[in-house]
Amino acid sequence: MLLEVRDLDVRYGAVHAVRGVSLAVEQGEIVALLGPNGAGKSSILNACLGLAPRSGGSVTFNGAPISRLPTEIIVRRGLTLTPEGRRVFPHLTVMENLKIGAAANAKLRRETAGRVEEMLALFPALTDRRTQLAGTLSGGEQQMLAIARSLMSAPQALLLDEPSLGLAPNIVDQIFDLIAELKRRGVTILLVEQNVELSLAIADRGYLLASGRIALAGTTAELKSTGRLERAYLGIA
Ligand SMILES: Nc1ncnc2c1ncn2[C@@H]1O[C@H](COP(=O)(O)OP(=O)(O)OP(=O)(O)O)[C@@H](O)[C@H]1O
Ligand SMILES: [Mg+2]
Repeated sequence: MLLEVRDLDVRYGAVHAVRGVSLAVEQGEIVALLGPNGAGKSSILNACLGLAPRSGGSVTFNGAPISRLPTEIIVRRGLTLTPEGRRVFPHLTVMENLKIGAAANAKLRRETAGRVEEMLALFPALTDRRTQLAGTLSGGEQQMLAIARSLMSAPQALLLDEPSLGLAPNIVDQIFDLIAELKRRGVTILLVEQNVELSLAIADRGYLLASGRIALAGTTAELKSTGRLERAYLGIA
């Protein structure tokens, strides 16, 4: 397994958000992490990057423990996150936002210019906007930029937190096309989404999280076939 989360616990003071979650993502897979609001999805992704308070359990990447490493080192090892909510730097241009994505890695910094061009080719919507301030981009363009910025670190695995949230249907389709293209390019993806149908259409496997625990796990075919996902989602499983 490329990414392995074991018995993960995340607590925010009295709030026990993630309770003994174990999940794994194999090299080359797209794995969907589904679940209602507040289930703990973002907490899991953030904990993998050292950005949420892990109170128990472990995370390994490429066979090595990463739970105690600073975020910057984790990113350098090839694991990165596109956080929820299209967080771009609004007062910086598209180009500047992209360059920041490679800043943590000296080797990548030397290749920044080439990599920016590669990203602009992958995200044609951004090509004509390279000098535009990110805060003036449309919602869809900002999400593209947020994903492109995380790809600047040349990750082996990408954790995507609700990339389609609040976007128009045609932009949502573009985002999912892009995720499929990333898979073709060999990027391993753990995808958190509210859009269950599109996620199951693109993923190899999935987990359903409810109240901080894994309620259901399986291949997407298994998850789709039984109706158990719907029942679990509605809390009547
Ligand atoms: N920084 C924080 N401080 C305190 N509680 C938090 C914090 N972040 C998250 N929580 C709580 O932890 C629980 C899980 O939150 P989390 O953001 O991981 O859920 P989620 O599944 O990503 O939800 P959503 O679908 O709404 O994004 C929630 O009850 C939330 O209120
Ligand atoms: Mg979330």
